[in-house]
Formats: sequence, structure tokens, C-alpha cells
Amino acid sequence: METQKEQRMKRIVSGIKPTGRPHLGNYFGMMKSVVEMQDEYESFLFVADYHALTTIHEKEELHNLIVQLILDYLAVGVDPKKTVFYLQSAIPELAEFAWILSTLVTVPWLERAHAYKDALAKGKEPGVALFSYPILMAADILATQAELVPVGKDQIQHVEMTRELARKFNARYGTLLKEPQSFLSEGQVVPGIDGQKMSKSYGNIIPLFADEKAVKKAVMRIVTDSSRPEDPKDPEQCNVFALHKLITPEEELEEIRDAYLRGGMGYAESKERLFNNIMEFTREMRERRAFYENRMELVYEIIQEGNAKARNLIIPLIQQVRESVGLLS
Ligand code: ADP
Ligand code: TRP
Repeated sequence: METQKEQRMKRIVSGIKPTGRPHLGNYFGMMKSVVEMQDEYESFLFVADYHALTTIHEKEELHNLIVQLILDYLAVGVDPKKTVFYLQSAIPELAEFAWILSTLVTVPWLERAHAYKDALAKGKEPGVALFSYPILMAADILATQAELVPVGKDQIQHVEMTRELARKFNARYGTLLKEPQSFLSEGQVVPGIDGQKMSKSYGNIIPLFADEKAVKKAVMRIVTDSSRPEDPKDPEQCNVFALHKLITPEEELEEIRDAYLRGGMGYAESKERLFNNIMEFTREMRERRAFYENRMELVYEIIQEGNAKARNLIIPLIQQVRESVGLLS
């Protein structure tokens, strides 16, 4: 009789930097898929606080952003019973691992990274941490031995670099590290209120959890053309409609699409509806956020537990890495 092999669930890992409050782009690009995947995958999710040090240099601000991001993740539906939810800095061994990985690559190899090139293109003098950022990100991923990394499009290059680092390590020291793959959520880039990619660094975001007034203000500032309410409009060319497609229920979406094509719906009305739908879409999440905000002890417990689970998994792997490269254990 054939014995059935136990099928291990595939493992995923992802992280987000606590460098600002999350927005609709973060939600649809990454948070949503992490939440949806936690039922079917063994999930690892962390707050990339070491990475945030690259840009946040004020102690209180960083501390606050870390706490807020933990709440945001719980609010969008990360379930600590299903997902190992932890702080990157609870595992300082990751920095050790990143150091070891850094011995595998050259300066020109790292110079190809988009984040570094962007900084140069903007005339900034890139910091050392920004330059070596892809190595720490590779350590975050490889240390979990995850198969999949759910991220937005802009992070694919970093995951590719992670794969290369795994191959380089395995070629030099013997197969130990697993090559992960990116997992793209419907492949979309969520546009910001100016039509460019929504990003904290472009000041064009619609925040997920700001108060009503701030959400409304952002929605009302979405850039549109100068057509009048009665003019027919192409929904596919409209920044407001692009966001409706993510948020607005199917039936109402079709109604709005028809009204655009026929003429008769002004941008003000379209924005008002979008605003209402965003508030409705985030209502349950806001309630969950308030629940946890009023129980901060529970929140700290959750993260401590996650830290312990992540350490249990990650530290033995890093110990194997130390042995593989010849360090005395
Ligand atoms: P930001 O550009 O706002 O600083 P981050 O770099 O912190 O965002 O990104 C966190 C996650 O959210 C990443 O996986 C990223 O790919 C995703 N993401 C950010 N902005 C968008 C967007 N506009 N559309 C889709 N995904 C996004
Ligand atoms: N670089 C990612 C970002 O800017 C954050 C990140 C750090 C990450 N380490 C990671 C994402 C590991 C996935 C896996 O959004």
C-alpha cells in the first residue's frame, strides 16, 4: 500500500517598512495578498524596522511608526494564529547573515539596484545602508527558506537579486539556501492622486486609515481633466475610475462606467462616491484597528509570540550558514 506523503504547505514571506502610514497602493499591492494567502500558505510577515532606519532618523517617530504599522497589519486582517508576525529587529542574526551574504557580491552588482539608481538620478548622495539594502532584504527572505514572496511590482528586482545571492551562496558553499520567487498580486500598480504610482515618497497617497476628513481631502485632490459633468468621458483614462475599479462593488462600478461613457456624471460626484466606498471598504478594518488599539497589551503579546516563533525557525538556518562558511560554532 502506498503511504501518502505529507504535503508541506508552501511558505511565504513578506515585509513592509515602517516609513509612513500605509495607503491604498500598499494594500492592493501587497497587504491584501498576504491576508488572502495566510489560509493556504505557511506565512511569515514582518515589520522591516532595520530597513526603516535608512530613512527615519528620529527616535520617537520610528518608534511610533513601528507600533502603528503593527496595528495596521492586524487591522487589514493579518491573523496571528495563522501568520508568524514579527519584527525584523527581533532577529539581529539577520544582520549577521546579511554580512555573510555581502561577501558574495561586488560593488557593480549592487549598483544595478533601482533604489540606488533612483537616488543617484535624483542627485542624492546615497547612504551605505541604501546601497546594501538588497542584501539585507535577501537575508530576510532566505533566512525563512520561503518559496514565495508576495510583493508589488517595484520589488521584483530585489527578489531577483535574492535569487542570485542564493545561487552564489550555494555554488560556493554547497546547497543550503532555497531560491524564492516573487508573487505578484494581479500585477497592478495602484495610481496615486496625481496618476503616478501611489507612493509615500511622492506625496500622492490615499491613506488607508486616516480620519474621514483626510481621506476625503486626498480623494477630492485626485487629478482629472477639464471635461464638464455632461460630457462623455473615457473611464479608462480617469484616475478616479482607476481607483473605483479596486474599491467599488461590481454593480455600482458598471453604473459609473455607463454614466462616464454616456455623459452625465461629473468628477465631483464620482469622487464623492469613491470616498464613500473607501470608507465602507475600510469600515471593518477600522473597527478591528480600534479593537487592538484599545488592547495594546494584547498587541505586544502577539508580536512577542511572533518574534519567538520566527527566531525558532530562522536561527537554526543562520547557524547552518555559519557552519557552511567555516565559522566555529
Ligand atoms: P511606498 O512606495 O509607498 O514607499 P513601500 O516601498 O513601502 O511603498 O511598499 C510596500 C509594499 O507595497 C511593496 O510590496 C510595494 O511593492 C507595494 N506597493 C507600494 N506602492 C504600490 C502601488 N502604488 N501599487 C502597487 N503596490 C504598491
Ligand atoms: N523592500 C521592501 C519594500 O520596500 C520591504 C522588504 C524588506 C521586504 N525586506 C523584505 C519585502 C523581504 C519582502 C520580503 O517594500
